[in-house]
Amino acid sequence: MTNDTTYHWPHKDLLDVTQLSEKDTLHLLDVAASFQEINSRPVKKVPTLKGKTVVLFFVENSTRTKTSFDVAGKRLSADTFALAKTGSSLNKGESLKDTGLTLQAMAPDVIVIRHPSSGAARFLADLLPCSIVNGGDGWHAHPTQALLDCYSLREAWHGQFAGRTLLILGDIAHSRVARSNMHLLHMLGVKLRLCAPRTLLPAGVNHWPVEVFSDLNTAVRDVDAVMCLRLQLERQQAGLLPDLAEYSRRYCLDKKHLSLALPEVKVLHPGPMNRGLEISNEIADDPACLVLDQVAAGVATRMAILYLLATRNDGGRA
Ligand code: CP
Repeated sequence: MTNDTTYHWPHKDLLDVTQLSEKDTLHLLDVAASFQEINSRPVKKVPTLKGKTVVLFFVENSTRTKTSFDVAGKRLSADTFALAKTGSSLNKGESLKDTGLTLQAMAPDVIVIRHPSSGAARFLADLLPCSIVNGGDGWHAHPTQALLDCYSLREAWHGQFAGRTLLILGDIAHSRVARSNMHLLHMLGVKLRLCAPRTLLPAGVNHWPVEVFSDLNTAVRDVDAVMCLRLQLERQQAGLLPDLAEYSRRYCLDKKHLSLALPEVKVLHPGPMNRGLEISNEIADDPACLVLDQVAAGVATRMAILYLLATRNDGGRA
């Protein structure tokens, strides 16, 4: 945790990593580390957020983000409730504005929103006085994923980000995870490489602070970590890939590729994984693969996010 006793978390909302300074980020990771121990206790509950209410408003499918925010809130004794598209009045045509105002009328402290439209979290943050957390909006941003990835890498790299090299591999064009990680890890001094077929690179990638590769054997050489991305078949327009077998042959991370990286190389994946498409079975089940560590880090990181946002006006310090 930051030793600066004058530090105070300055943000009402968490919408994008671009709003975070290095100090905000490291403080949040330190708070997460202080909460991690609670997750291994026989009784995994503390009263820190007793009386606070957290809404999980998920208009798009999720396993990890939704359940880990739910677990995080409950472990801190917040009351959590979930609203999904299915079973709600969104399916009767109620607007995002009216749904947000309806939720606000129940006086929540934090709303976590996942939405297929980029900018949906910002829209609610401008509309409502409660804190808004972006749990993933369109192709735009997934800040809590990037923060938990940072947490995992900090553990794996013994706190040392500067000078490390991370390769982000796969469907970068459609990935809010890649965008958020690129911003956050660049700020922390990590050297970034991207590897993808040209059709899965975003427009404007030339302006990103990255090295771009199309050949995986070249891209993976001497990296400290590889972040595989899910091939987002549900977001793709037809014709971006000639065929999936060809994609897998060129871009599915396997042991042969990994042998070209540094000996202590780690593999990350935000999940859900398409085994055999972007990551081989042998790598997905290898000890170098941190995918389940990332899920565990997600609980601690989201505990920290809820704590910092829900207590920002309480004079609280972690
Ligand atoms: N990484 C991630 O956002 O996973 P979910 O879609 O399962 O929440």
